[in-house]
Amino acid sequence: MTKEDVIELLSKVKYPGYARNIVDFKIIKSIDVNDEEVKIVLNLATKNEDIKRMILDNIKNIFKGSGIRLILSTVQDEPKSTTVEQKHFVKTAKKRIAVLSAKGGVGKSTFTISLAVFLKRKGYTVGVFDADIHGPNIPRMLGTLDEKASINENKKIVPVLKDGIYSMSLGYIVDQETPVIWKGAMVSKAIVEMLESTEWPDMDYLIVDLPPGTGDAALTVKQNMDVDSAVIVTTPNELAIADALRTIDFFKQVEINISGFVENMAYFVCDNCHNKLYPFGNVEPEELEKAFGIPCLGAIPFDPTIEEATDNGTLMTLGNEEYFNLINEVVSKI
Ligand SMILES: Nc1ncnc2c1ncn2[C@@H]1O[C@H](COP(=O)(O)OP(=O)(O)O)[C@@H](O)[C@H]1O
Ligand SMILES: [Mg+2]
Repeated sequence: MTKEDVIELLSKVKYPGYARNIVDFKIIKSIDVNDEEVKIVLNLATKNEDIKRMILDNIKNIFKGSGIRLILSTVQDEPKSTTVEQKHFVKTAKKRIAVLSAKGGVGKSTFTISLAVFLKRKGYTVGVFDADIHGPNIPRMLGTLDEKASINENKKIVPVLKDGIYSMSLGYIVDQETPVIWKGAMVSKAIVEMLESTEWPDMDYLIVDLPPGTGDAALTVKQNMDVDSAVIVTTPNELAIADALRTIDFFKQVEINISGFVENMAYFVCDNCHNKLYPFGNVEPEELEKAFGIPCLGAIPFDPTIEEATDNGTLMTLGNEEYFNLINEVVSKI
């Protein structure tokens, strides 16, 4: 019997559940033939013991009566890893929270800053990392638009410190007025470079403002730091909800732990009648919880003083107790 004869015989054995045979399936690792015996080594990656047994039995059957001794063995080669090495930047933070949304304009950056301000007022040390390199809004909202990144003696970027909140943004490196068009790979590269070259102080919390959607940025952040939890920001209109669903699926897939969602601009309290109005639609949080499969962390109203404070970078000094009580509620659930 020659090696070709053996291959011929093996090609009569189908891979269980498939029309293709085990030779085509490339599970034959080696074949050694001499006058008395044939040695076949299979590379069986399947963890299904039934399939393994079926394949081995079928091979034994076709060699029955051939008068040759069959020595059959299996190995399991390590599957070639396609996953990128996990890195652990910003270890100086005790907790890393990512804020994300399906689309822009739902208040993701506003929520990021609100969280930072709230935690800072509580006495925690807080940093904000602006990973939204398409629209780095953090400097405007923190009132640090004129700041530029400075380099320390270790040749690392020092985060900007304003009102007790540390922050790092592409806005501190490039000219804010010049729009930059980023391709996917460049987005990742820019984020990794910012993470690599920033020297963060010891912090209780680092909050990451991610760009909207399910793209390279989110994956890059996940691959480069241990994200303890993620918060999804959505508005209550139907389109935003449909998009949020996709985003949540994506994050589950890439195994980022999602704490829940925040419904932003959920309602508006009328100045005159003091009733809650629902300009974007009124969806019950329970309904959303069911659709998303994650808990609702809170509903935040549309509040013109918030809009003004974020646009002017003065949220840190804003009194608005009611608003920060709502943020407190959210924080307690993260
Ligand atoms: N709860 C809110 N009440 C009033 N205005 C808000 C609220 N949340 C966000 N905004 C305003 O909506 C706009 C978009 O918010 P932003 O945080 O920039 O969204 P994103 O980061 O998701 O693109 C900003 O002008 C912001 O001031
Ligand atoms: Mg934003």
